[in-house]
Amino acid sequence: MDYIVSGGNKLYGELPVYGAKNCALALLGATTLTDEEIVLTNCPQIVDVQNMLQLLQTLGKKVWRVGDVVGVSGALNTTIVTTPLASLIRGSVLVMGSILAKYGQVELPLPGGCAIGSRPIDIHLDGLRKMGVDVCEQDTQVVCIGKPRCVTYKLRFPSVGATQNLICASVLSNGKTVLKNCAIEPEIVALERLLINMGAKISGVGCSTVTITGVSSLHTATANVIPDRVVTATYLASVVCAGGKVTLTNCNPHHLRSFLQLVSANFSTKVYKHEIQVDVTTKASSYGVVQTAPYPYFPTDMQSLLLSMSCYARGQTTIVENLFENRLLHNASQLNKMGGNVVVDGRVATINGSTLVGADVFARDLRGGAGLVVAGLGAQGQTHVHDVEHIHRGYANLAQNLNCVGAKIHTVN
Ligand code: EPZ
Repeated sequence: MDYIVSGGNKLYGELPVYGAKNCALALLGATTLTDEEIVLTNCPQIVDVQNMLQLLQTLGKKVWRVGDVVGVSGALNTTIVTTPLASLIRGSVLVMGSILAKYGQVELPLPGGCAIGSRPIDIHLDGLRKMGVDVCEQDTQVVCIGKPRCVTYKLRFPSVGATQNLICASVLSNGKTVLKNCAIEPEIVALERLLINMGAKISGVGCSTVTITGVSSLHTATANVIPDRVVTATYLASVVCAGGKVTLTNCNPHHLRSFLQLVSANFSTKVYKHEIQVDVTTKASSYGVVQTAPYPYFPTDMQSLLLSMSCYARGQTTIVENLFENRLLHNASQLNKMGGNVVVDGRVATINGSTLVGADVFARDLRGGAGLVVAGLGAQGQTHVHDVEHIHRGYANLAQNLNCVGAKIHTVN
């Protein structure tokens, strides 16, 4: 499926933000810690969440969905995640710690690399080994046997997924686990809060040192999926590139402070508790030098958006991608097809802004694809964005939502 984006249409109106993919996936992974029902509200209707629900169902969980409310319950009838399932969703690794904690064994395919980088899970596995789990890495599978035991463990890097897995692995252990150098992303805080609501004993919520005191079992709970900070940034980037005045609702500005700083430094921006209004009537000067880093610094998931925004700035912007080794080059090449001036040297992109002209471009991953749509909104003429299935993994109705505020994007199958 492709999008044809007709540039030059300013955006006006109001756009609601929905639940975060990366929060929903983490919370769904935690449902395997109990047989009782976990209900998630504000759960986004996107492909990755649908695939995660299918994965849970195939492991034995009962799943229901009514609109943006999802329920998961029941016991697993297997702890083996087969390859076809795991290929559905990279987030399958997010059930590893939970299944181990409850069942004492799990087998799953090693999540292969993807377009943005090699995506290793060595930190996940090293932490589990330090918890006394027998971890056997075969060529494409990893087999873990043994209930995780309490430990003090420092992550060598604040990996989001490893933090999620190791916290979940600890909640049913035999004592006190102290995890140091944890990721502190909002999605981690949401997971910690759900686990506490399920009966887990966790202190240090939102901190880099988290202490978990194991309990015998966890119980039913309900959680509201936090607003998607990357979708919020995508909508803001759309207005920056196209021009106009848009109010975003149901969002959490605090979760994208680093991105908002760049926007408000260049455009009239009003920030409220759950709303952001941006009014774009001019070009940005430049965004300076921006380094991606773990939260609360500039998120790698917003890097492709800034790359596109920088192509419309008057001056030079430098972006350093410190997390994923292959997350700059492809979009740079596509933006240059649109007349952009993006030079990439290793992990550093230098962008001299001006304007863009519509062209044939190809989405290669989720956030990169969104960046190309955003670039097309401000371009002269039409931009044909191919392979937008990548975008549907993490965005619900991106084209329709942007069209509601004046974009002209039509879908071609
Ligand atoms: C999560 O991925 C997100 N995905 C990613 O969003 C996001 O880009 C990333 O966190 C960073 O914020 C989900 O939450 C489902 P990491 P994750 O472990 O957990 C290295 C999107 O588009 N690393 O924090 O896989 C890794 O290679 C996706 O929504 C190891 O070396 O990210 C990377 O360089 C893309 N060994 C860095 O750490 C490990 O064991 C950050 O990875 C684990 C990670």
